[in-house]
Amino acid sequence: MNTTPQSYACWLGYDLVNPQTSQDQIKRYLEKICVRSQGLIVDSIKEELTRAAEGLLGGKPEFVNSPQEAGLVVSLIKDMPGQCGKGLEESVELSDEGFCLRNCTGAAGKTLIAARTERGLLYGVFAFLRKLRLGELGEELTIVENPKSPVRMINHWDNMDGSIERGYAGKSIFWENNGLTSNLSRVEDYARLLASLGINSISVNNVNVHQVETHLIGERLPFVERLADIFRRWGIQVFLSINYASPIEVGGLETADPLDPRVEAWWAERADYIYSRIPDFGGFVVKADSEHRPGPFTYDRDHAQGANVLARALRPHGGLVIWRCFVYNCMQDWRDYQTDRARAAYDNFMPLDGKFESNVLLQIKNGPMDFQIREPVSPLFGGLSQTNQVLELQITQEYTGQQIDLCYLVPMWKEVLDFDTYAKGEGSTVKQIVAGKVFPQEHSGIAAVVNVGDDLNWTGHALAQANLYGYGRLCWDTDLSSERIADEWIRLTFGGDEQVVEVVSKMLLKSREIYENYTTPLGIGWMVNPGHHYGPNIDGYEYDRWGTYHRADRDAIGVDRTVKNGTGYAGQYHSPNAEMYESKETCPDELLLFFHRVAYTEKLKSGKTLIQHIYDTHFEGVEQVEWLITQWDSLEGKIDQVTFENVAERLQRQLKNAIEWRDVVNTYFYRKSGIPDEKGRKIY
Ligand code: GCU
Repeated sequence: MNTTPQSYACWLGYDLVNPQTSQDQIKRYLEKICVRSQGLIVDSIKEELTRAAEGLLGGKPEFVNSPQEAGLVVSLIKDMPGQCGKGLEESVELSDEGFCLRNCTGAAGKTLIAARTERGLLYGVFAFLRKLRLGELGEELTIVENPKSPVRMINHWDNMDGSIERGYAGKSIFWENNGLTSNLSRVEDYARLLASLGINSISVNNVNVHQVETHLIGERLPFVERLADIFRRWGIQVFLSINYASPIEVGGLETADPLDPRVEAWWAERADYIYSRIPDFGGFVVKADSEHRPGPFTYDRDHAQGANVLARALRPHGGLVIWRCFVYNCMQDWRDYQTDRARAAYDNFMPLDGKFESNVLLQIKNGPMDFQIREPVSPLFGGLSQTNQVLELQITQEYTGQQIDLCYLVPMWKEVLDFDTYAKGEGSTVKQIVAGKVFPQEHSGIAAVVNVGDDLNWTGHALAQANLYGYGRLCWDTDLSSERIADEWIRLTFGGDEQVVEVVSKMLLKSREIYENYTTPLGIGWMVNPGHHYGPNIDGYEYDRWGTYHRADRDAIGVDRTVKNGTGYAGQYHSPNAEMYESKETCPDELLLFFHRVAYTEKLKSGKTLIQHIYDTHFEGVEQVEWLITQWDSLEGKIDQVTFENVAERLQRQLKNAIEWRDVVNTYFYRKSGIPDEKGRKIY
C-alpha cells in the first residue's frame, strides 16, 4: 500500500498535534530516550516510540543507556534507576496493568514511565504519547492509572471465507479463502490500535462457528498461532469461539455430552494441544443453545454443566471460558403473549448463579433483547451475585445505522455503565459490577463486537472510528465522559483545529438522539427489514418467530411487561427499578413502549400524545440529518479530502434512509390510528 489515507492511521497519526504542544517539548521528550527493561512488548514499545518520534519530530530518537542523558525514561519498577524512581514503589498503588507517569526525582526535566509489567509499560507509553499530542503534559507530572475493567475484550464475528457477520466495513482483516490473510502487517497495525486503547483480549472468529472454523482448534490451529504471535507483542491474548459439538465434529466421538467422561477427556486433551502451541492462549468464547447452535440442552444438561467441562479443561493452563447469555426461544409463535424474549437470559441463568467454575465468565448483552437503539439494562446485572460477569456491547452498528448512518454509541454505553442496579443498595452500578467491585468475582470486564473490516479506513464510515476509540477508552476508564472521549478522538484524528473539534463533537454527541428520532420510538425496537436489519419495515418481524413484537393495533402499541398485567419482566429488577418500570407514571418516556402498552392518545411526560410524539420525532429526525450535512459541509478544506468525501457520501445515504423511516413510520401509524398530525405535515 503506497498511498495510505490519513484515516488508516486512525488516532495514531503522529504527524498531528494540538497547537498547545510545543516542538521544544516534543524534542525534550523524544530526542533521547532511555528504555531500561527488555522483553517482547518492550521491543514493541521501542518501535512505537520510534514511529512517534518520526511523526512528531521527523527523525528517529536516540535510545541511550543512561537515564541521565535521556528526556524520557521507560522502565519496569524492578529495573528502575535508583535516583529516578526513588520511593515510587511505596508511594503509588499500581495494579499489574497500571502505569505511572511522573517527573524523575532529582533529575529536572526528565519524565519517567513506570509499571510493574510490560503491559503496564505499553499502556503508559501510549497514554504518554496521547497526552503529549493533546498538550496535556504539564511541568509537574504525577499520573497513576489502573484500568477499571480487568477483561477488556474485542470480539470479531469474522468467518474464514472472509465474510463478517454484521460487518459493515469490508471483509475480514484476518481471514480469506478459508485461510489466514496475506496482509499480516495490517493485523500488526490493528494490534497497535487496540493496544493504544488498553485492549487485552481478542476473539478472532464468529460466535456462530461454522464447519471450517470448527477446526480452528484442530488442523487450522497454526493460523491462530500466527495471529497470537502478532497480538502477543502488543499485550493482547487471543481467544477462539468454539463449536460446542467439537467432540463430535473434530474428535469423532458420538456425543458432546458434557457429563460423558470421554467428552471431558477430549476437551482436556484439546486444551493441552492448544496450549502446547499457544502457551498464552486466552480461552474459549461460547454461543451454545442459542439461535440453533449446539449446546448442552441436547443432552438434557444445563449451561453450568455445559460450561464447566470446558473450564476444567482450560484451568490448568490459566484459560477462561466466556459463555454467552444470549439464550432465548427463537421459534416463538407470535400469537403467544406469555413467552417474553426479554425475560429469557435471566430465566435461563439466574437459577445457575454460583454453579459455574471460577474460570467461567458469563457474557451478558447490555440489554435483554439485542443491541437496539434503546433498551433497558439487562437485569442479569445486579441479579447474578456469585458468577463472573462480562458486559457485551456491540460496536458494529447492526441496528444502529450500519456505519452508513452516524451514530456515536458512547453516550448509550455510558447509560448502561452508570445504571444503578441497587443490588447491594445505591451505587451498585454496572460499571462497578464489571470492575468486580460489587460482588466477589475472580474475573470480570467488558467485551464488544467490533466494527472493523478491511476498508482502508477500518470502519467504513470514518466517524465510526470514534466508536472503536470510545469503546477502548471506556473499558480502561468507565468514568470518562462521552464529551471527553469525543474531544480526544477528534483532536488525535484530525488535529486541534477548534472549529473541527467543535463541529464534529456536536455532530457525534447529537447523533444517537437523531438516529433514535427517525427510527423506532420509545424503546419498542426492531421495525427493521428482516435479515439484514437496515431500513424500516414496521411489521417485518411482527408475525415471525423471533419474539420481537410491537403489537400495534388501531388504538395502541407496546408490550405490557409489568408484573401486574403483563409478562412480569419488570419484576426481574431490584427495587426501586422494578417499581419505576412497573408504573406508567414513573417509567421513563424513552422506555415506555418497552414496558407498557400505550394508547396513541395517551399523554407522555413531555405533555404530547404518543401519536404526536411519533410524528414530531420523525419529522425532526430528518431535519436533524439535514443539519448534520450542513455542519459537515462547513468543514470542507479542514478535513483531509478522502475522509471529507467519505463522510459526505454517507450523510447523503443517511438522509435517504431517514426520509424512508420518517414516511414509513408516520404513514403506518396514521393509517392504523386515523389520527392526523396536529401540524398538518405531509403523511402518505
Ligand atoms: C444478533 C445478530 C446475529 C448474532 C447474534 C448473537 O441476533 O443479528 O447475527 O449472531 O445477535 O449475538 O449471537
